[in-house]
Amino acid sequence: MREEIRFLLGHEKRSIESIDPTTTVLRYLRETECLTGTKEGCAEGDCGACTVVIGELSDNGITYRAVNSCIQFVPLLDGKQLITVEHLAEEDGALHGVQSAICEQHASQCGFCTPGFVMSMFAQTENAASPDRAELKDVLAGNLCRCTGYGPILDAGEDAVKSKRSGKFLAAEGAVAKTLAAWSDQETVQINGGDKSYYAPATADDLATLYEAHPEAHIICGLTDVGLWVTKMHRTLPTLIYIGAIPELKSIEIEDGFISIAAGVTLSEAHDVLGAHYPDLEELIRRFASLQIRNVATVCGNIANGSPIGDTPPAFIALDAKLVLRRGSARRTIALEDFFIEYGKQDRTSGEFVERVLVPLPDDTDKFGCYKISKRFDQDISATCGAFRLTLEGDAVADIRICFGGMAGTPQRATQAENTLRGGAWTEATVRAAMDAMTQDYTPLTDMRGSADYRMRAAQNLLFRFFLETSENTEHTRVLETPEVAHG
Ligand SMILES: Cc1cc2nc3c(=O)[nH]c(=O)nc-3n(C[C@H](O)[C@H](O)[C@H](O)COP(=O)(O)OP(=O)(O)OC[C@H]3O[C@@H](n4cnc5c(N)ncnc54)[C@H](O)[C@@H]3O)c2cc1C
Ligand code: FES
Ligand code: FES
Repeated sequence: MREEIRFLLGHEKRSIESIDPTTTVLRYLRETECLTGTKEGCAEGDCGACTVVIGELSDNGITYRAVNSCIQFVPLLDGKQLITVEHLAEEDGALHGVQSAICEQHASQCGFCTPGFVMSMFAQTENAASPDRAELKDVLAGNLCRCTGYGPILDAGEDAVKSKRSGKFLAAEGAVAKTLAAWSDQETVQINGGDKSYYAPATADDLATLYEAHPEAHIICGLTDVGLWVTKMHRTLPTLIYIGAIPELKSIEIEDGFISIAAGVTLSEAHDVLGAHYPDLEELIRRFASLQIRNVATVCGNIANGSPIGDTPPAFIALDAKLVLRRGSARRTIALEDFFIEYGKQDRTSGEFVERVLVPLPDDTDKFGCYKISKRFDQDISATCGAFRLTLEGDAVADIRICFGGMAGTPQRATQAENTLRGGAWTEATVRAAMDAMTQDYTPLTDMRGSADYRMRAAQNLLFRFFLETSENTEHTRVLETPEVAHG
């Protein structure tokens, strides 16, 4: 057991033996390191003003990820490199290419959002990524500018990613990789601070033993839910168990007809594999929060949190996914839909955790569609999210699974609508009958994301849209990105 965390701040080593484990990286930077370039806007992962970059050891050397420092806790930095806007310029004061591009394009007005934009772009240039303008909009969707200078910001981003990577981060990358590799000791870490404890087990077996012994602990991974319990709800979390340092829980594999996604896999990591098999999941994940959130938020956390408006559960339930739960050495596999019992209650016993989710591989005869409805295209929580898997035999519906989020206290199937369709012809008449039957499936709530009436109509119309997209009709049914607003 190691009772110390070690990380690089820029290129300087840091070691901490005691800290309140819920101290946010943002707070640590501003109040302990006096690095005030990183700003606090919302403190809930929405605005991107607090964006920093985390460098991590990977097969290619170091991989750079933009994250929201306002909802990351300091102990998670163990074994990583933390880079802020202060670290970018060269020793002689020469600006980094991203910073120069921002200046040249006049892409900063009041400047409050600028460090966050710079860091999001920096992660792209240091990963030698070359997003086009449309892709840059996705990269920057988690950075909000209240002065609304998006046009020049995108221009700067385009300029920055065109230039060849150079400078001190490239020069020092070998040394950084060596330091991080030397720190990868596969030891369980424990840090205490005040009356709080933080554990980062090194193996899944250690996690199972630890959680069985401390069932009162909170499991954490991406912190994109739990971080807000601290910054917004001011909750005290006495015991935390971080599962993101366990190599075997970072795996995403194809086995026995399933895409097997382990508990530590982030939305960013799952994006390509899920998207390759189910193109609609590519779009769903692209519209899940922002890149900063997707870079840390886990697929399994999106299930384990039990939210009725999580985006992945409706899609996975429509696909008949399974969940592997583990307590100590005992494992059980259940249908994902059975995990959600009622609002706030899941089928999970004390000391049991989600080990992986198993998403069936597509069958050539099936058609799958899923649709997120939210007020904003980017970076918004769904009012409702619907998913459909259809098996046709000729023109007849051999099977259909329909699941919606945001329509009940849990992600829930539309069994009446399914029964109306099953065995019938896949025609507008039967689909319209199923849309009517859906009123028996759900009694949605009215809240700030949509009225009950709106939700019901939207859900019914999503079934119709799925019908249009899976019949001969060639209607254009999707908006794939927000149009760019002209700037003057
Ligand atoms: C700005 C912002 C935007 C967001 N947008 C979206 C969105 O568009 N769509 C959407 O669906 N969600 C969204 N979310 C919610 C959040 O990102 C997801 O729910 C995320 O997948 C949670 O994963 P995590 O790893 O961050 O979980 P954490 O915050 O670390 O944990 C979440 C909960 O799950 C538990 N938990 C996590 N892993 C396990 C496990 N393996 N076993 C048992 N329990 C576990 C934790 O104890 C905790 O109760 C957003 C959040 C933010 C802050
Ligand atoms: S302060 Fe707004 S995302 Fe962190
Ligand atoms: S320049 Fe003012 S918030 Fe973006």
